[in-house]
Amino acid sequence: MQASLSLPSMAIVAMALFAAASYSGNPAQAEGVTDAKADARSGDAGLGEVLYRKTCRACHGPTAKGMASYPKLRDQTVSYLVDKLERYRAGEKLGPNTALMAPRAKELSDEDILNISTFIALLE
Ligand code: HEC
Repeated sequence: MQASLSLPSMAIVAMALFAAASYSGNPAQAEGVTDAKADARSGDAGLGEVLYRKTCRACHGPTAKGMASYPKLRDQTVSYLVDKLERYRAGEKLGPNTALMAPRAKELSDEDILNISTFIALLE
């Protein structure tokens, strides 16, 4: 009983500490400056990863390196990825293979888009 109650609360404390540490370690974000990784903390990378593995990985690869006509996604910023995903979702044609990508984007909420983009942008 004790263990099943204390484990989740430990996890929450650990997450809060981690969030506080990464925030104070990144003054660029506090000032609203965006660079490649600074804006990457806006979403929930953990939720993004779950969704990425389920819906994106089959085409873009386990580490988002892409292959053949599936573009590489890693090394892009959150803003870049969010912009592309919103445009696919809105039905805009972006490249020769938009027909493959658009249906996936249409299943995503704003939050999903932010979380997945955060996960991809943080890939090392
Ligand atoms: C069926 C294969 C497939 C799946 C599944 C898929 N994609 Fe794509 N994705 C593509 C293709 C093909 C393109 C290039 C489309 C074009 O030509 O416009 C693309 C393009 C993109 C781009 C734009 C890249 C750029 O630099 O222009 C992003 C971002 C992206 N996908 C993210 C995702 C995410 C996030 C998911 C999961 C929700 C996902 N994709 C699922 C095939 C796929």
